Amino acid sequence: MEPILEASNIVKFLGAGAAEVKALKGVSLELMPGELTLLMGPSGSGKTTLLSILGCILTPNEGTLRIGAQKATGLNSEGLANLRRKHVGFVFQSYNLVPTLTAQENVMLALELRGTPGDAPAQAAEALRQVGLSHRASAFPSKLSGGEKQRVAIARSLAGSPSVILADEPTAALDSENGKGVMALLSEVAKDKGRGILVVTHDHRTLSYADRLIRIEDGRIVGRARRRNKAGVAAAVAA
Ligand SMILES: Nc1ncnc2c1ncn2[C@@H]1O[C@H](COP(=O)(O)OP(=O)(O)OP(=O)(O)O)[C@@H](O)[C@H]1O
Ligand SMILES: [Mg+2]
Repeated sequence: MEPILEASNIVKFLGAGAAEVKALKGVSLELMPGELTLLMGPSGSGKTTLLSILGCILTPNEGTLRIGAQKATGLNSEGLANLRRKHVGFVFQSYNLVPTLTAQENVMLALELRGTPGDAPAQAAEALRQVGLSHRASAFPSKLSGGEKQRVAIARSLAGSPSVILADEPTAALDSENGKGVMALLSEVAKDKGRGILVVTHDHRTLSYADRLIRIEDGRIVGRARRRNKAGVAAAVAA
C-alpha cells in the first residue's frame, strides 16, 4: 500500500542568529491509509515543529514532503495553503473553537474556509453525527464539556474529508474517560475512508489505539514500533 503522506529527511531550523535551534535533524516518516500513528517524545524534541511541517504550516529547510499524489516541496505559500485546505485536518489540545458560534456553525466555518462545495449545514450535521454529537449541534462551546468540545474539533477536522489528520496532544486537557473516547474516535476516523492520522501525545494510555508508534528525541527519530495484536503498539513497546 502507498503511504498517504511521506516525509523524507526533514531538517528545520527555528529562531535566528545565536538563538537558532536545529529543531529537526533529518526526520523521515510515512502515514499509511487507515492507520493511526502516535508520535511521542520529550518536551522540546520537535513534535509540534514536525506536525507543522507535515501540515504545510511551516516549510522545511531541507527534505521533501508528499501528501497524496501531490508534492509539497517547492510550492509557494498559496500552493501550500491549497494543499493544506484540501488534504489536512488539524486537532489541537485547546480545541480552538470559535466561542460565538454553535458546534454546527464551527464545523460549517471550516467547510467554508476549505471552500468545500455543497450543502454546508447538512455536511456539518453529518460530521457531528460521526462524532456522536448530533444532539449538541446547536450548543455553544461554553456549554460543552471538554470531551464534547474535542469531539466538535474532530468533526471540524473531518469537514471536507481531508485524507490526513494531524492532532497535537488532543487528550492532554481531558480526563481518562474522555481521553479514551477521543482516541477511540480518532482510530475509527482513520479506518473510515482510509485516512492517515498522526497524534502527538505524552499519554501512555493512548498506546492501545495506535497502529504505529514513532519516538522522537532531540529532533531525531529514535524508535519505531508497529501493532502486532489487539493491544495496539503497547505490546510492541513492552517487548
Ligand atoms: N519559534 C521558535 N523559535 C526558536 N526556537 C523554537 C521555536 N519554536 C520551537 N523552538 C524550539 O524548537 C525545539 C522543538 O520545539 P517543539 O515545539 O517542536 O517541541 P515539542 O516536542 O512540540 O515540545 P512540547 O512537548 O513541549 O510541546 C525546541 O528546542 C524549542 O525550544
Ligand atoms: Mg509541542
